Amino acid sequence: MEANEKRYDDMLYRRCGQSGILLPAISLGLWHNFGSVDVFDHFEKIARTAFDNGITHFDLANNYGPEYGSAEENFGRILKKGLGKYRDELIISSKAGYDMWPGPYGNWGSRKYLTASLDQSLRRMGLDYVDIFYSHRPDPCTPIEETMGALADIVRRGKALYVGISNYNDEETKAALAVLKEYKVHCLIHQPKYSMLERWVEPKLLPLLKDEGVGLIAFSPLAQGLLTDRYLNGIPGNSRAARSTGFLQKNQVTEEVISKMRRLNDVAAARGQSLAGMALAWLLKDERVTSVLAGASSVEQLLDNLKALRNLSFAEEELSAIEAILS
Ligand SMILES: NC(=O)c1ccc[n+]([C@@H]2O[C@H](COP(=O)([O-])OP(=O)(O)OC[C@H]3O[C@@H](n4cnc5c(N)ncnc54)[C@H](OP(=O)(O)O)[C@@H]3O)[C@@H](O)[C@H]2O)c1
Repeated sequence: MEANEKRYDDMLYRRCGQSGILLPAISLGLWHNFGSVDVFDHFEKIARTAFDNGITHFDLANNYGPEYGSAEENFGRILKKGLGKYRDELIISSKAGYDMWPGPYGNWGSRKYLTASLDQSLRRMGLDYVDIFYSHRPDPCTPIEETMGALADIVRRGKALYVGISNYNDEETKAALAVLKEYKVHCLIHQPKYSMLERWVEPKLLPLLKDEGVGLIAFSPLAQGLLTDRYLNGIPGNSRAARSTGFLQKNQVTEEVISKMRRLNDVAAARGQSLAGMALAWLLKDERVTSVLAGASSVEQLLDNLKALRNLSFAEEELSAIEAILS
């Protein structure tokens, strides 16, 4: 299947920190909806539609599924069935840092774990290299020199072109960047959780990354679906909160949260956007945010999210209305 010839016409690309890489403002995450519990034809269509609309970046991790590893296996099948023909137009990332296999070497941040895990990820996806490999979370018990040294060696061996860190707080980020500098490997990107409902990155991390020339890609920018119209009228049976394999718990869908979402939805409607579109645009209004890493369980959701790019600017009154609702 050939990709859409006009795939680059409408996407916005942003430079990822001080690097040669441009990322699409909206990237696709495969944490949910691409596992062995999901339907291949359905999610293949989501991935192909993403690429047909200029989404060049697909984000994975060793344990995405469920089952662990199955999102990478499935993405490997999608590549094999045709998307792989465009390998040089794709930025594929993977990570290791959370529990993956039993015993002491299948978790956290040792050189042993990161190196073996990336080899497994490459086999599952049928790739020679990933574009970005992340330390998925800081490990308080492993020296940062070991974790960052493993990342640096992975780049030297050509198994990843760039490295990133995820879930590192301000101080952990400073320490990781300092060590990577000693190894003369640039940290391309930081992947923190960032949305209207989760704003810890704003005071220190965003300015730090800007100063250090590191890009930022926001994960769960829709707060796993809370910042969409999904739950405005109850919990749909096929939603993440309803599915037993979903990470969003029903008890997070509270009346207090949903009443805020209804008010935000009114602000979005007045802007001519869906709530999801406005939530993504609100992050992207800050040019230090390289990309937002959204998930989607349908092609319709993906296409709705892409519409965010049509209006990324906010009037002062809109911003203060949003702040008043969130506060
Ligand atoms: N580094 C890390 O530790 C970490 C952690 C978490 C995630 N991530 C990355 O971030 C990616 C995104 O995370 P996420 O899936 O939590 O992202 P999200 O974008 O916050 O939530 C995605 C969910 O929101 C709903 N949704 C999306 N677009 C919608 C729309 N237009 N209208 C209505 N509902 C919509 C869907 O829920 P339904 O399924 O209910 O339809 C979808 O599954 C992951 O795939 C992964 O790549 C990284």
